[in-house]
Amino acid sequence: MNIKKIILTSCLFLVVQGEALAYCVPLPNRPDSLYLFSYSTTKKHCRNGLHFAWSGDGKRWTKIGNEFSFLTCDYGSWNTQKRMLDPVLERNADGVWFCSWLVNEYDKIIARTQTLDLILWKPQEFYPEKIKIRPDRSVRRDSIYFPDGIQAVGQIHKVESSLVDRLIDYYDQKTYRNQLDAEQMKDDASRFKGLLPVRAQLTVQAGPIKKISKDLIGIFFEDINYGADGGLYAELIQNRDFEYNTHDKLGSDSNWNATYSWKVKGDGLTFTIDSVMPIHVHNSHYAILNVTAPGGALVNMGWDGIALKEGEKYDFSLFGKRITGESSNVNVILRDKLGIAVASSQINIPVGIWKKVKTVLIPSSSTESATLEIVPSGSGSYAFDMISLFPQNTFKNRPNGLRRDIAQTLANLHPRFMRFPGGCVAHGDGIGNIYRWKNTIGPLESRIPQRNLWGYHQTVGLGYYEFFQFCEDIGAKPLPVLAAGVPCQNSQDGGAGQQGGIPMNDMKAYVQDILDLIEWANGNPRTSYWAKLRAEAGHPKPFGLEYLGIGNEDLISEVFKDRFKMIYEAVHSKYPKIKIIGTVGPFYEGSDYEEGWKFATELKVPIVDEHYYNSPGWFINNRNFYDNYDRSKPHVYLGEYASHLPGRPNNLETALSCALYLTDVERNADLVEMTSYAPLLGKEGHCQWRPDLIYFDNTKIKLTTDYYIQELYGINSGDEYIPCIWKVENENETVANRVGESVVRDSRTGDVIIKLANLLPVQSRVALDLKGLVFGTKKVILQVLKGRPTDTDVIPQESSFDVGSRFDYEMPPYSFSVIRIKGNLLMDKILNR
Ligand code: AHR
Repeated sequence: MNIKKIILTSCLFLVVQGEALAYCVPLPNRPDSLYLFSYSTTKKHCRNGLHFAWSGDGKRWTKIGNEFSFLTCDYGSWNTQKRMLDPVLERNADGVWFCSWLVNEYDKIIARTQTLDLILWKPQEFYPEKIKIRPDRSVRRDSIYFPDGIQAVGQIHKVESSLVDRLIDYYDQKTYRNQLDAEQMKDDASRFKGLLPVRAQLTVQAGPIKKISKDLIGIFFEDINYGADGGLYAELIQNRDFEYNTHDKLGSDSNWNATYSWKVKGDGLTFTIDSVMPIHVHNSHYAILNVTAPGGALVNMGWDGIALKEGEKYDFSLFGKRITGESSNVNVILRDKLGIAVASSQINIPVGIWKKVKTVLIPSSSTESATLEIVPSGSGSYAFDMISLFPQNTFKNRPNGLRRDIAQTLANLHPRFMRFPGGCVAHGDGIGNIYRWKNTIGPLESRIPQRNLWGYHQTVGLGYYEFFQFCEDIGAKPLPVLAAGVPCQNSQDGGAGQQGGIPMNDMKAYVQDILDLIEWANGNPRTSYWAKLRAEAGHPKPFGLEYLGIGNEDLISEVFKDRFKMIYEAVHSKYPKIKIIGTVGPFYEGSDYEEGWKFATELKVPIVDEHYYNSPGWFINNRNFYDNYDRSKPHVYLGEYASHLPGRPNNLETALSCALYLTDVERNADLVEMTSYAPLLGKEGHCQWRPDLIYFDNTKIKLTTDYYIQELYGINSGDEYIPCIWKVENENETVANRVGESVVRDSRTGDVIIKLANLLPVQSRVALDLKGLVFGTKKVILQVLKGRPTDTDVIPQESSFDVGSRFDYEMPPYSFSVIRIKGNLLMDKILNR
């Protein structure tokens, strides 16, 4: 694009955008060089990043976009940081640009990055201010005025005009893509005005089938939105271990302490927290009850109350000791919201030494919001810890197990794998918060609870053993993700995000922890210490770990690379069969994506974990995202994705955009081996993140439209992709692009599965020709999810009918249809497939 054209297109854009035409300054002749001005502003609390403007004479300046950000700061947490103060840009003799800036007014940290084209920047590095780095921060600051009289401070550079061309081109493309991505179905009435029902043809090709991944659809479990404690983990007592700590919320809530969710009822009883003689060094806080006049109670409120079912059995247990007093009898009572006792039992607390005491409570009526009371029957002083109320009716009746209804909802998705424990929970907020699997196994009182970076507390009662057991119970492969020796790049606890990393001196031990996990999961209890622990916990047989994720959305810095390489090489040389999944940043583009891919390719990492939370428009307009990926490079695990609309609902629009995109992912499932929608669970009233796949409260579960899409894909996945000719009879690309198909076959059953997504406001009639794939008349099962884009409560409808090898199918407006045709393995044999 030459300058004239740029000016033209820029002008058009600016008209479209409604911006001032004063930005367009025509130049009579194209000069060889131009002036480029780099600057930042204080807008959005200095979070707007680096901007450019250009000039032919160094006097009259034209902005490239209206403060369009060519570079933003990656430092620290999203809430408080990501700021760029006083950027300095400099080019060295080799043509490399270096940019440095202050990350804020107080940390005395300089961020630095480099680039060749001012568009694609290297991952950022962060240095103490006193260290001398390029670019020299004492260079002059230039001051310019824009035609509107606004002053800006930065640096003027003399550059080749082609560089300015490229920056303008880039801005144009970005703006155009952003417009496409922003499209929403609410505008379909005008976008598709007058559109008549569309016709399409799907014809099975004689060409070879493509083997695709058997593990394509999985689930992503993270303890976010109270997904574990108070959620999937069936414990009914909140803060059972008295280990809640103000630091869980980084000191922002003084009520969030060891007494949280507990209170005293009645007189003659005081409740304090002690830590002098704990039951375990990892569980240092416990409750002391001083009773001067019996009758009062220590009360737990549960997680928004305790939900109980009439006639079911609940295991109550605590660690207790009587310190002073005469009576060891303590009553345990469950009361409904009206104060009526629905279950009670008496336990006997031992004198002087900690002992686990148990009883079983059976409620006489159901209640959604009970409380638990501990009522000593005599005067004296008592110590209590690990006060637990656990339903016996857990998923598969596992002790210390999972809430049956939520677990079953996950099982119904037929996930081929389950990723855990995150997400950001895996690499933590600061080095001290990195999730350590060894802290999460063994007796509950010996596990090390920890701060949850989503602003609450993790008991780790749902720990690695329980995760692996659950995976086995639902037939999903376990996919643990461990930090790559660095915490979250958005860490706010401890300053400069992940830049420190685990000190190199400690990395050997950290790597050993990872090797020990493989031993724990897969080893022989007779020869391996770690496997013996697994066997003692109740699982002598190996768990069959195949996949291991290392890292999560990390900044691909040198700190990261050094540590990842150490881990990768150690695991790969000792356990070459374990498939390691690397990480390529939080987005589908940008410096971590580019650098992550380069690094993983060089290291020959088998799979990398891509993440992107994008708009429905992005999913619709990027259907070919994987078509051109190089198959000789690492394969892909799309580990976190979701379709986000303003206001973050789950509705048919978000669901259909994912359904359409997944038809394209299936086409590429020779490369994309795994996918998992994120996040999975959200407890009503406690969500830090929306949308989620499943919402729940203490008694109910609400499945989302996105859930049904995952379920339809989970139930109807195949391991062979059937190439087809697909023609949409409409010349308008916007129309054609909103209708998609995918045909797969399950080689175990021979079933053929056709998926059809129609994101148009009109019907699409498809003429299917399945010759060579379907013989005679066959019964098909049809499942359809349809409605209006804003619908949040539609569910798939099932029906069945007979078809031959040719038939027509009418896709309803805004719908996703799955047609399953019963297979014929005998015919396979005849055809020698
Ligand atoms: O899914 C929620 C969060 O999104 C994950 O913890 C993190 O990996 C991503 O940024």
